[in-house]
Amino acid sequence: MAPGQDLLRRRGLRAAPGSRTLSRMSDVIIETIDLHRSYRIGRKSIEVLHGIDLRIQRGEKVFLCGPSGAGKTTLLYTLAGLEHPEKGRVHIDGTDLYALDRRAQARFRNKRIGYVFQNYHLLPELTALENVAVPGAISGNDTTALALKALERVGLGDRAEHLPAELSGGEQQRVAIARAIVNEPQVLFADEPTGNLDSRNSAEIMRILFDLVEEHGVTLVVVTHDQNLAKIGDRTLVIKDGSIHSAE
Ligand SMILES: Nc1ncnc2c1ncn2[C@@H]1O[C@H](COP(=O)(O)OP(=O)(O)OP(=O)(O)O)[C@@H](O)[C@H]1O
Ligand SMILES: [Mg+2]
Repeated sequence: MAPGQDLLRRRGLRAAPGSRTLSRMSDVIIETIDLHRSYRIGRKSIEVLHGIDLRIQRGEKVFLCGPSGAGKTTLLYTLAGLEHPEKGRVHIDGTDLYALDRRAQARFRNKRIGYVFQNYHLLPELTALENVAVPGAISGNDTTALALKALERVGLGDRAEHLPAELSGGEQQRVAIARAIVNEPQVLFADEPTGNLDSRNSAEIMRILFDLVEEHGVTLVVVTHDQNLAKIGDRTLVIKDGSIHSAE
């Protein structure tokens, strides 16, 4: 067994035993219909998403794998309302995300969707606490107390006043998770949240994310390059050549 996987197991994170536990979960929270997205570079067009149809159940833990450049980040952005598809629809909990006007879409995202960006994306001049409070401030509330609670949830209550540069990679990733969960989203997208971390920190991050699923019924979609890590989810999807496949 790979060392990382062994560590995950010792920390109580088990590979779901062949568990495609969908029978106990019946309702779809994320649905895409015929999603298309391409990028044009000069005269050449690359079709990154080629008619993606996807259904994810409430409370599911889904891992998304695929080679570099396959379109994992593009798909996650599109699912989260951050990248408009050229064609197709994204429904989150029954709401047609791209049918909303810009303000309604931003409000929906702010309240219902959490996003952990590839490479943290923390604002360097703000403290950990201020970074986590930003999504609350956008919705017009003073969320300092909620931000502190979110930081405590990820085990960083004692680092609230630190700037990102004064935190380790694992700690910055935990701040990014705290920021993503401060408004208690229903759906959490995390783009390679353990990509730059050692196996101990990776296990800790996954423990935090899985606890959110267990305790708050959050639906989790995680991008990873780590096949062993992906085994601990309910389902692994692989994106390749613009299409989604189920991993064996
Ligand atoms: N804004 C953009 N303009 C042009 N091309 C883009 C843009 N964003 C992404 N691409 C291209 O789309 C493809 C998919 O990119 P994406 O970032 O989704 O890949 P990825 O699977 O997340 O890769 P990685 O594992 O390296 O993060 C790549 O070929 C990339 O170069
Ligand atoms: Mg990416």
